[in-house]
Amino acid sequence: MVRIHDTLDTAWLDSSSTSGATQHDETLGQAAFALHLDEIPLEQEQEGGADPSHAVASADAEHRSVNQQPDMKLVVISNRGAPFDPNKPQTSGLAAALEPVVERSGAVWMFSSENRGDGTERPLLLVKAGEGHVAELDLPAAHYRGYYRDYSNSILWPVLHSLSDRMSRAEEGYDSYRQMNNFIARAAFDLRDRDAFWVHDYHLLPLAGDLQNLGIERPTGFFLHTPWPTPDMMERVPNYRELMKSMLEYDLLGFQTNRDLNNFVASLRTYFGLESNDGVVTTERGQTRLQKFPIGIDPRQFAEYLAAELSPAEQEKISSLLQSFEGAKFAIGVDRLDYTKGIDKRVEAFNQLLAAEPGSISLLQIAPSSRADVDEYRKYKEDVENAINHVNAEHGTEEWRPIHYTNDPFSQAALARLYRAAHVGVVTPLRDGMNLVAKEYVAAQDPKDPGVLVLSKFAGAAEDFNEDEALLVDPNHPEEIADAISKAVNMPLDERVKRWRSMMDKIVSYTIHDWSADYLRELDKSRIAVPADQFHHLGLGWTNEAQMPLYQNYAAALTAYNEIDPADATLKEAAYADVKSAFEALAVPLKHTQDRLWDLSAPTASRDGGRGQELGARED
Ligand code: G6P
Repeated sequence: MVRIHDTLDTAWLDSSSTSGATQHDETLGQAAFALHLDEIPLEQEQEGGADPSHAVASADAEHRSVNQQPDMKLVVISNRGAPFDPNKPQTSGLAAALEPVVERSGAVWMFSSENRGDGTERPLLLVKAGEGHVAELDLPAAHYRGYYRDYSNSILWPVLHSLSDRMSRAEEGYDSYRQMNNFIARAAFDLRDRDAFWVHDYHLLPLAGDLQNLGIERPTGFFLHTPWPTPDMMERVPNYRELMKSMLEYDLLGFQTNRDLNNFVASLRTYFGLESNDGVVTTERGQTRLQKFPIGIDPRQFAEYLAAELSPAEQEKISSLLQSFEGAKFAIGVDRLDYTKGIDKRVEAFNQLLAAEPGSISLLQIAPSSRADVDEYRKYKEDVENAINHVNAEHGTEEWRPIHYTNDPFSQAALARLYRAAHVGVVTPLRDGMNLVAKEYVAAQDPKDPGVLVLSKFAGAAEDFNEDEALLVDPNHPEEIADAISKAVNMPLDERVKRWRSMMDKIVSYTIHDWSADYLRELDKSRIAVPADQFHHLGLGWTNEAQMPLYQNYAAALTAYNEIDPADATLKEAAYADVKSAFEALAVPLKHTQDRLWDLSAPTASRDGGRGQELGARED
């Protein structure tokens, strides 16, 4: 190792001190070198290739950065995608969050299509979505049920939300879950040359290992949209140890809140005796960084929704709903029809409130059906509807219905209008990763006359909004929810404005674009695939062990060139050609290395073993 440093240094000095150098010599200087490196096209190795990602690569040429997001060609992978149509309803917080990221960052987003396939691998079909692309996958029918219904939604989902009573007893599903992850990894192989992979949610916990087994070595991060439970809860998941180990194949694990992050760290300690050191867990594979990234919304876009035109049918629906509340106060709840959302307890809260304060407020509950093929969801729907019928029968009159309930999904633009008209936003999930409805409700308010947010203390959003802002409640206790709604209904304007202002400032100061930029900046730091002590700083910049033979060839060619008498023009010309081709062989991998380093601004003892100074290393 040390020898080649000497050879290169000597060659370098010789080259710059050569007297009588021909015109070519100038191109061998450091400045010219830098120029050459910059000129190397990033996509050189893909040019003319039949690789389907080629089309994407060229479309990304005009890639623009978002909120200082690193300029990287990203692959986003999740089970569910977004509609990319403002007039269509969003299916989830995950979809609502990722849609603007993909539209603005030029990422390719892979997710499940509505169709099932026979498991045959097909080339990815990329469809333009803003500056990005989507690639929908027909997931294999044979494994879909085990993967989606059984393991993801009947086992992982309830446990992640600390509701293990809702967990299905069936142990099947794990094999299909693994097979499906494997299938998705193989589909992602077409995109292996992009810069980084960003995987989302509990359907894909083991995907990083599958990507790596296929030789995809790009930085790979994961973000969990749901909560992470305590270790004793997680133990109820079949194969939890294997699953958690596989998560340590990611370079970066992102969580919504400190509570989730701390629970994950506690699980690692409990199951494997692993400690995290300043948020870094070291395993045989390398390092996994753990961090909190609280997801946000795009408040500006939300304000635009308020002014956006609705389809005539939706406009009609909204107008008739608002008419039915005319003159009276109403609260709004918007949730997928999911037992984690605490809709039944909320309805009971209205039951109690209306018994104490008859006719004081009604509820508009929008609850689009979800996962109807899972038994627990069917049961829950019945329970919620029975409870609503009971309240309406008990407290309603000919002219007034206490609870308006619909399973219809609404577009974001329609929801924005309903949020704004509602006097109270009730967001009372039993557990929730973040809950973007809470933030959307706040963002849609009239600054001069804002409504009040009643928020579950077990929603991730309660880590962002404190009790001076939202009215925080325990969602398991209907009487607490009822008290909070009553307080909200009677809250004076100045207090409402004060609470709203403070929440709104937070929403504006950390948007969905800050969230993605922060995450991707952290993921970018994983671009060092080789341990830092294997990097060395030489004349041309940072390099690694594997590149040393290329340096050696280049140094030898340079020495040979310098030793030739300038008078012998033919020989000098031939030697120059050798130097040039040795340089070209070195330049591409060297450029690649520079791209994978992010903050090695100056050689330090820890990073180059103290050799940097000895070699007269410099910053390039
Ligand atoms: C939650 C999950 C998402 C999921 C969404 C809708 O928000 O975190 O990953 O996509 O629910 O559920 P579904 O099963 O319809 O995709």
